[in-house]
Amino acid sequence: MKFDESLKIQKSFNDLIPGGCHTYAKGDDQYPQFMPVYIARGKGSHVWDVDGNDYIEYGMGLRTVTLGHAFGPVVEAAHRQMLLGNNFVRPARIELECAEKFLSIIDGAEMVKFCKDGSDATSGAVKLARAFTGRDMVAICGDHPFFSVDDWFIGSTVISAGIPQCVKDLTVKFHYNDLGSVKGLFEKYPGKIACVILEAEKYDPPQNNFLHELKCLAHANGALFVLDEMITGFRWHLGGAQKKYGVVPDLSAFGKALANGFALSALAGRRDIMERGGLHHDQERVFLMSTTHGAENHALAAALATLTYYQDHPVIETLYAQGRKLADGVNRASRELGLEEYVSIVGPDCCSVYTTRDRDKKPSQPFRTLFLQETMKRGLLMPSSIVSYAHSDEDIATTVERIAEALVVYKKALDEGIEKHLIGKPVRPVYRKYND
Ligand SMILES: Cc1ncc(COP(=O)(O)O)c(C=O)c1O
Repeated sequence: MKFDESLKIQKSFNDLIPGGCHTYAKGDDQYPQFMPVYIARGKGSHVWDVDGNDYIEYGMGLRTVTLGHAFGPVVEAAHRQMLLGNNFVRPARIELECAEKFLSIIDGAEMVKFCKDGSDATSGAVKLARAFTGRDMVAICGDHPFFSVDDWFIGSTVISAGIPQCVKDLTVKFHYNDLGSVKGLFEKYPGKIACVILEAEKYDPPQNNFLHELKCLAHANGALFVLDEMITGFRWHLGGAQKKYGVVPDLSAFGKALANGFALSALAGRRDIMERGGLHHDQERVFLMSTTHGAENHALAAALATLTYYQDHPVIETLYAQGRKLADGVNRASRELGLEEYVSIVGPDCCSVYTTRDRDKKPSQPFRTLFLQETMKRGLLMPSSIVSYAHSDEDIATTVERIAEALVVYKKALDEGIEKHLIGKPVRPVYRKYND
């Protein structure tokens, strides 16, 4: 495989765009040094880079693309809407249609407001919670990696440059499945915490009725219970992880799988809270997500088509089934080489990730890089192991064969030392203070 064209344009990307991309997850430091891969196009489960290399893809637009790239019914719906115009001076009827469809699916929510990014929605939830409770602090789940690009969250990470200390001090962390850690926060900051916010599930399922207990605890302490369904939404269950686990949050944030890759997110929740951002109440007004592009009509058309497709086809069942086949195949290949403690697919089948461990069985960035290098060489673009409705049995079988080959190199690197096999610098975590 050649990466000549990608390598040629890499410098220009970095000269013109800070970070060389528009989300750190797509950055050069997340991929093998000499395989930057710039994408030309995608179709179904495949993408082609600017050098013409063909990959089966397992990142799916950072989990936005559930149906497959350039999925006909969604693209056509967006196109039809574009021909009617895509932004007007007053709301278009499609905004109501999309709200009705969304609320018929997310059945615990009473109102919804659309926006562009997940951060718009989670930050909107935090602002509403603060206004509703009259409190400043936010309790976030410290085991979940990302809630927003905004200060209330990024201030709690190591890349907090530019964020005032007084803002950082307002965010505190609890642990998933650890009610005691939440109790501790409410005891330490009585009457101060506006909401708890978390993903309903990441890698481990909730234990001991954690989500329900957390909601009760938050309410008992006058705080709101907010679920970030950016990843779980329309993947765990059509009605989100909230439906799967039978818990109704006060507010929840959706995006990603909502419109099969088109830019659309949503903040949904209880009428009495959401209406604070509206025109029909006599409380102090909340300036809630007023966005020029929030209701971009072709993104709403894409969402309508996507949601309708989910309702009419076994999409979510297929994500689970194909994810299971992939995990079974890769874990078997790994076991056959005696690597099961080093490389394995873990997490929910509808949204899994893989482990890459070193000789000491510790998570390893160099070994992750080697895995990426060896799978990319074999036509797999696999920063995670996310499947879509377009991943066929043949795709999965081919992927397992290619991974089995890549694992032979992985095993050699464990035996002989990784420096003999890894070309270039290892990938680096996004959350680091300096570009070391
Ligand atoms: C769980 C979760 N919440 C929020 C966000 C923020 O979404 P966005 O990047 O669209 O602002 C992300 C993005 O990856 C996410 O994974």
